[in-house]
Amino acid sequence: MAEGRAAVQEFFTERAARWDAKFPDDGPAYASAVAALGLRPGATVLDGGCGTGRALPPLRDAVGPSGTVLGADLTPAMLEQAVLKGRDGAAWLLCADAARLPLRDGALDAVFGAGLISHLPGPEIGLRELARTVRAGGVLALFHPLGRAALAARQGRQVTSDDVRAERRLQPLLAATGWRLDSYVDEDNRYLALAVRIRAGEPTGGDPA
Ligand SMILES: C[S@@+](CC[C@H](N)C(=O)[O-])C[C@H]1O[C@@H](n2cnc3c(N)ncnc32)[C@H](O)[C@@H]1O
Repeated sequence: MAEGRAAVQEFFTERAARWDAKFPDDGPAYASAVAALGLRPGATVLDGGCGTGRALPPLRDAVGPSGTVLGADLTPAMLEQAVLKGRDGAAWLLCADAARLPLRDGALDAVFGAGLISHLPGPEIGLRELARTVRAGGVLALFHPLGRAALAARQGRQVTSDDVRAERRLQPLLAATGWRLDSYVDEDNRYLALAVRIRAGEPTGGDPA
Protein backbone atom coordinates (compact mmCIF):
# COMPACT_ATOMS: atom_id res chain seq x y z
CA MET A 1 0.00 0.00 0.00
CA ALA A 2 1.84 3.11 -1.20
CA GLU A 3 -0.10 6.34 -1.64
CA GLY A 4 0.62 9.97 -2.51
CA ARG A 5 1.40 12.43 0.27
CA ALA A 6 -2.05 14.08 0.17
CA ALA A 7 -3.77 10.69 0.42
CA VAL A 8 -1.54 9.70 3.35
CA GLN A 9 -2.38 12.93 5.16
CA GLU A 10 -6.10 12.52 4.51
CA PHE A 11 -6.06 8.89 5.70
CA PHE A 12 -4.21 9.62 8.94
CA THR A 13 -5.94 12.94 9.68
CA GLU A 14 -9.25 11.07 9.83
CA ARG A 15 -7.78 8.52 12.24
CA ALA A 16 -5.47 10.68 14.38
CA ALA A 17 -7.77 11.35 17.35
CA ARG A 18 -8.66 7.65 17.74
CA TRP A 19 -5.24 6.19 16.86
CA ASP A 20 -3.92 5.27 20.31
CA ALA A 21 -7.30 4.10 21.65
CA LYS A 22 -7.51 1.67 18.74
CA PHE A 23 -4.28 -0.08 19.76
CA PRO A 24 -4.21 0.18 23.58
CA ASP A 25 -2.00 -2.85 24.26
CA ASP A 26 0.94 -2.13 21.95
CA GLY A 27 3.19 -0.39 24.52
CA PRO A 28 5.35 -3.39 25.49
CA ALA A 29 5.85 -4.37 21.82
CA TYR A 30 7.10 -0.85 21.02
CA ALA A 31 9.40 -0.85 24.05
CA SER A 32 10.87 -4.18 23.01
CA ALA A 33 11.38 -3.06 19.39
CA VAL A 34 13.13 0.09 20.61
CA ALA A 35 15.37 -2.08 22.83
CA ALA A 36 16.38 -4.07 19.72
CA LEU A 37 17.98 -0.90 18.29
CA GLY A 38 20.64 -1.13 21.00
CA LEU A 39 20.76 2.64 21.51
CA ARG A 40 23.39 4.07 23.84
CA PRO A 41 22.94 7.03 26.17
CA GLY A 42 23.68 10.22 24.25
CA ALA A 43 22.68 8.79 20.85
CA THR A 44 20.65 10.68 18.25
CA VAL A 45 17.61 8.82 16.94
CA LEU A 46 14.78 9.63 14.56
CA ASP A 47 11.31 8.12 14.75
CA GLY A 48 10.32 8.33 11.06
CA GLY A 49 6.54 8.53 10.64
CA CYS A 50 6.22 8.93 14.41
CA GLY A 51 2.46 9.52 14.25
CA THR A 52 1.08 10.20 17.72
CA GLY A 53 4.53 9.46 19.15
CA ARG A 54 3.94 6.08 20.74
CA ALA A 55 7.63 5.17 20.40
CA LEU A 56 8.98 8.52 21.59
CA PRO A 57 8.99 7.85 25.38
CA PRO A 58 10.88 4.52 25.07
CA LEU A 59 13.30 6.14 22.60
CA ARG A 60 13.95 8.94 25.12
CA ASP A 61 14.45 6.39 27.91
CA ALA A 62 16.99 4.58 25.70
CA VAL A 63 19.13 7.63 24.84
CA GLY A 64 18.73 9.40 28.19
CA PRO A 65 18.78 13.13 28.88
CA SER A 66 22.01 13.67 26.92
CA GLY A 67 20.58 12.04 23.78
CA THR A 68 18.46 13.53 21.03
CA VAL A 69 15.11 12.16 19.88
CA LEU A 70 13.43 13.51 16.74
CA GLY A 71 9.93 12.56 15.65
CA ALA A 72 9.04 13.33 12.03
CA ASP A 73 5.64 12.91 10.44
CA LEU A 74 3.88 14.09 7.30
CA THR A 75 0.46 14.46 8.95
CA PRO A 76 0.02 17.50 11.23
CA ALA A 77 -3.04 15.94 12.94
CA MET A 78 -0.93 12.99 14.13
CA LEU A 79 1.71 15.36 15.53
CA GLU A 80 -1.02 17.40 17.26
CA GLN A 81 -2.08 14.22 19.07
CA ALA A 82 1.54 13.65 20.09
CA VAL A 83 1.56 17.14 21.63
CA LEU A 84 -1.82 16.59 23.35
CA LYS A 85 -0.38 13.45 24.94
CA GLY A 86 2.69 15.37 26.15
CA ARG A 87 5.08 13.38 23.99
CA ASP A 88 6.73 16.56 22.75
CA GLY A 89 8.42 16.39 26.17
CA ALA A 90 10.34 13.34 24.96
CA ALA A 91 11.32 14.53 21.47
CA TRP A 92 11.65 17.36 18.99
CA LEU A 93 8.70 17.03 16.60
CA LEU A 94 9.05 17.88 12.92
CA CYS A 95 6.33 18.04 10.31
CA ALA A 96 8.45 16.57 7.53
CA ASP A 97 8.54 13.95 4.82
CA ALA A 98 10.77 11.02 5.76
CA ALA A 99 11.85 10.97 2.13
CA ARG A 100 13.13 14.58 2.33
CA LEU A 101 14.47 15.28 5.79
CA PRO A 102 15.87 18.62 6.94
CA LEU A 103 18.91 16.87 8.43
CA ARG A 104 22.57 16.84 7.48
CA ASP A 105 24.31 13.73 6.14
CA GLY A 106 25.16 11.22 8.87
CA ALA A 107 23.39 13.23 11.59
CA LEU A 108 21.68 10.20 13.12
CA ASP A 109 22.83 7.09 14.94
CA ALA A 110 19.57 5.28 14.30
CA VAL A 111 16.12 5.42 12.76
CA PHE A 112 12.99 3.74 14.10
CA GLY A 113 10.13 3.39 11.61
CA ALA A 114 6.89 1.78 12.81
CA GLY A 115 4.29 1.28 10.10
CA LEU A 116 6.15 3.67 7.82
CA ILE A 117 7.62 1.83 4.88
CA SER A 118 4.36 0.65 3.30
CA HIS A 119 3.14 4.25 3.20
CA LEU A 120 6.15 5.72 1.42
CA PRO A 121 5.17 6.50 -2.18
CA GLY A 122 8.64 5.38 -3.30
CA PRO A 123 10.28 3.08 -0.72
CA GLU A 124 13.67 3.29 -2.53
CA ILE A 125 13.70 7.08 -2.25
CA GLY A 126 12.67 6.93 1.41
CA LEU A 127 15.22 4.29 2.38
CA ARG A 128 17.97 6.13 0.51
CA GLU A 129 17.10 9.35 2.32
CA LEU A 130 17.17 7.56 5.68
CA ALA A 131 20.57 6.10 4.71
CA ARG A 132 21.82 9.61 3.87
CA THR A 133 20.95 10.85 7.33
CA VAL A 134 22.38 7.88 9.29
CA ARG A 135 26.11 7.52 9.99
CA ALA A 136 27.97 4.43 8.75
CA GLY A 137 27.36 1.64 11.25
CA GLY A 138 24.07 3.22 12.38
CA VAL A 139 20.91 1.16 12.61
CA LEU A 140 17.44 1.11 11.08
CA ALA A 141 14.48 -0.71 12.66
CA LEU A 142 11.39 -1.28 10.53
CA PHE A 143 8.74 -2.39 12.98
CA HIS A 144 5.07 -3.28 13.19
CA PRO A 145 3.28 -4.81 16.18
CA LEU A 146 1.66 -7.30 13.78
CA GLY A 147 3.38 -9.57 11.29
CA ARG A 148 2.48 -9.40 7.60
CA ALA A 149 -0.06 -12.22 7.64
CA ALA A 150 -1.78 -11.01 10.82
CA LEU A 151 -1.97 -7.45 9.48
CA ALA A 152 -3.40 -8.61 6.16
CA ALA A 153 -6.02 -10.68 8.02
CA ARG A 154 -6.98 -7.68 10.17
CA GLN A 155 -7.36 -5.58 7.02
CA GLY A 156 -9.40 -8.32 5.30
CA ARG A 157 -6.89 -8.98 2.50
CA GLN A 158 -4.45 -11.66 1.43
CA VAL A 159 -0.76 -11.27 2.19
CA THR A 160 1.07 -10.66 -1.10
CA SER A 161 4.61 -11.55 -2.17
CA ASP A 162 5.17 -8.09 -3.71
CA ASP A 163 4.63 -6.49 -0.28
CA VAL A 164 7.61 -4.21 0.33
CA ARG A 165 7.95 -5.74 3.81
CA ALA A 166 8.42 -9.27 2.45
CA GLU A 167 12.02 -10.37 3.05
CA ARG A 168 12.60 -11.26 -0.60
CA ARG A 169 11.66 -7.74 -1.64
CA LEU A 170 13.06 -5.85 1.34
CA GLN A 171 16.56 -7.35 1.38
CA PRO A 172 17.55 -6.21 -2.15
CA LEU A 173 15.79 -2.89 -1.62
CA LEU A 174 17.85 -2.25 1.51
CA ALA A 175 21.05 -3.39 -0.23
CA ALA A 176 20.39 -0.97 -3.10
CA THR A 177 19.83 1.97 -0.78
CA GLY A 178 22.81 1.77 1.58
CA TRP A 179 21.70 -0.80 4.15
CA ARG A 180 22.52 -4.40 5.08
CA LEU A 181 19.61 -6.43 6.44
CA ASP A 182 20.92 -7.98 9.66
CA SER A 183 17.85 -9.70 11.08
CA TYR A 184 14.28 -10.26 10.02
CA VAL A 185 11.31 -11.48 12.09
CA ASP A 186 7.79 -11.80 10.71
CA GLU A 187 5.61 -13.45 13.35
CA ASP A 188 1.94 -12.91 14.18
CA ASN A 189 2.68 -10.45 16.95
CA ARG A 190 5.91 -8.89 15.70
CA TYR A 191 7.39 -7.63 12.47
CA LEU A 192 10.94 -6.37 12.92
CA ALA A 193 13.60 -5.89 10.26
CA LEU A 194 16.93 -4.56 11.54
CA ALA A 195 19.44 -3.12 9.07
CA VAL A 196 22.87 -1.53 9.41
CA ARG A 197 24.06 1.48 7.42
CA ILE A 198 26.95 0.24 5.32
CA ARG A 199 30.11 2.08 4.41
CA ALA A 200 30.80 2.64 0.68
CA GLY A 201 32.18 -0.58 -0.82
CA GLU A 202 31.14 -2.75 2.13
CA PRO A 203 29.32 -6.00 1.18
CA THR A 204 25.56 -5.97 1.74
CA GLY A 205 25.02 -9.74 2.17
CA GLY A 206 23.53 -12.26 -0.23
CA ASP A 207 19.98 -12.87 -1.40
CA PRO A 208 17.72 -14.52 1.17
CA ALA A 209 17.22 -18.25 0.61
C1 LIG B 1 0.74 3.45 10.41
S1 LIG B 1 1.06 5.07 11.03
C2 LIG B 1 2.21 4.70 12.31
C3 LIG B 1 2.39 5.82 13.28
C4 LIG B 1 3.37 5.51 14.41
N1 LIG B 1 4.68 5.21 13.91
C5 LIG B 1 2.84 4.34 15.24
O1 LIG B 1 3.45 3.27 15.17
O2 LIG B 1 1.86 4.52 15.94
C6 LIG B 1 2.09 5.74 9.74
C7 LIG B 1 2.52 7.18 9.98
O3 LIG B 1 3.49 7.52 8.99
C8 LIG B 1 3.22 8.81 8.53
N2 LIG B 1 3.80 8.93 7.20
C9 LIG B 1 3.44 8.32 6.06
N3 LIG B 1 4.24 8.67 5.05
C10 LIG B 1 5.18 9.51 5.57
C11 LIG B 1 6.30 10.19 5.04
N4 LIG B 1 6.61 10.11 3.75
N5 LIG B 1 7.03 10.95 5.86
C12 LIG B 1 6.73 11.06 7.18
N6 LIG B 1 5.66 10.44 7.73
C13 LIG B 1 4.91 9.67 6.94
C14 LIG B 1 1.72 8.95 8.59
O4 LIG B 1 1.32 10.30 8.63
C15 LIG B 1 1.39 8.19 9.86
O5 LIG B 1 1.41 9.03 10.99
